[in-house]
Amino acid sequence: MQKMNTHSRILNKTLQGKIMSAEQAASLVSSGVNVGMSGFTGSGYPKAVPSALAKRIEEANNAGEKFRIGVWTGASTAPELDGALAKVDGVEMRLPYQSDPVCRKRINAGEMEYLDIHLSHVAQFVWFGFLGKLDIAVVEVAGILEDGRLIPSSSIGNNKTWLDQADKVILEVNSWQDSRLEGMHDVYYGTNLPPNRQPIPLVSPQDRIGEPYLHCDLRKVIAIVETNSPDRNSAFSPPDENSRLIAGHILEFFEHEVKRGRLPRNLLPLQSGVGNIANAVMAGLNHGPFENLTAYTEVLQDGMLEMIRSGKLISASATAFSLSDTALEELYTSFDLYRDKIVLRPQEISNHPEVIRRLGVIAMNGMIEADMYGNVNSTHVMGSAIMNGIGGSGDFARNAYISIFMTPSQAKNGQISCIVPMVSHVDHTEHDVQVLVTEQGLADLRGLSPSQRARVIIENCAHPDFRPALQDYQKRALDHSFGKHTPHLLDEALSWHQRYLTVDHM
Ligand code: COA
Repeated sequence: MQKMNTHSRILNKTLQGKIMSAEQAASLVSSGVNVGMSGFTGSGYPKAVPSALAKRIEEANNAGEKFRIGVWTGASTAPELDGALAKVDGVEMRLPYQSDPVCRKRINAGEMEYLDIHLSHVAQFVWFGFLGKLDIAVVEVAGILEDGRLIPSSSIGNNKTWLDQADKVILEVNSWQDSRLEGMHDVYYGTNLPPNRQPIPLVSPQDRIGEPYLHCDLRKVIAIVETNSPDRNSAFSPPDENSRLIAGHILEFFEHEVKRGRLPRNLLPLQSGVGNIANAVMAGLNHGPFENLTAYTEVLQDGMLEMIRSGKLISASATAFSLSDTALEELYTSFDLYRDKIVLRPQEISNHPEVIRRLGVIAMNGMIEADMYGNVNSTHVMGSAIMNGIGGSGDFARNAYISIFMTPSQAKNGQISCIVPMVSHVDHTEHDVQVLVTEQGLADLRGLSPSQRARVIIENCAHPDFRPALQDYQKRALDHSFGKHTPHLLDEALSWHQRYLTVDHM
């Protein structure tokens, strides 16, 4: 492996000649282009060019000119990227997953187009030409080797595809990223287009099937910008009572499955969604009875790092770090402990349906609401306002060995039931949901018909304050519905949400 010296992160002589300020680089981006930005859950996103671009857009706005771009990323980024560009109304189309409050507001006000697609689909949709032309890639890297190979940053996301597909490339070289990231990544370059696709040769989570560097045709590089800025490392709140209870139910379920011989003692590779509940489940597993666990997931959060430290987790594959400041410090203080146990991959591989199905991943994701038949809404409030996006939840849920969805049973201080007769938007159908969990309990839906599922979900997962209303609905639906297979009183099921119209949701 070719090592960087400590004086410079840009060893390639040609590219050294392209170093410029973020403002100069931003001036090379024109209105109307599609820009593929690096970044995944607050890590590895470009820190300087998007803000400089936002400034340029604002100036254009002030001069009465319309300046908007398409922004394609790995997943959510940070206020300096999504927030800054949304604030100046500079985004025509945003894809895929985002979680920025300013973006959310604009999308829900109908001021910004948003294409929420499965994270495993993004790269291949671009190769297929489904999303139009990618004009410019703006990608953060941790360094550039003499021969021009790129050391990926704290996330990989769609960077391989952006660098490959874009006509022009702007690289941000961030010296804040620890140089020891070099060697941690596994970039697989073997994904051909149909009909020439080959199996992905990955049979266990820690397998390395590619190389540690990203490639880029250096003739396409139009600017190099040097930065020294931190990722958006957000702290996790300590697990609250609900999260602890949810984690407890999941652990009990795993023990039961091991006893029944349906899971091995070290379980199967774990996928854990973003957020505090997912982090709390990891904390629960860290104190649970299972040893030699593995993870095949999208983001590596604090909880997983703690599990590697404790020895519970022996390997973790992801596409991005999503750590708090404290966990990041721990990572680099005890780097040797973590180095060989963590692999970062492009998201087309971390979320690849073929691999997820082969490994038998246990998927655990958050949701907004579930209905009594097991359909899950992960993205919309009241059927029309987006919260974040589907992210990788569909990639994992559809292909997992067991797909688990979890949420507190109520939202907005008990004004809203997260178990409803009919979800107001479907992200995961009843066919892709095997287990639902709230702080009230766990509903194991495997092998159950719709009516059986409804009974278990209402009894085990609904909050007692809402249970009688749901049971009443279930009974009346059974009595009066046209079909008895999945009984519904459509007028009522759809108007269930009306009662909450007065609640401030967003
Ligand atoms: N009705 C209305 N609002 C609801 C709701 C419901 N049934 N359930 C939750 N909410 C609101 C919460 O009140 C909260 O709003 P606030 O930010 O104004 O307080 C917000 O949704 C987030 O809910 P929270 O309880 O904090 O849960 P979370 O942080 O675990 O997020 C999801 C839950 C569903 C939004 C989140 O998991 C997500 O975006 N999932 C989709 C993507 C995904 O699964 N990614 C992982 C794949 S690898």
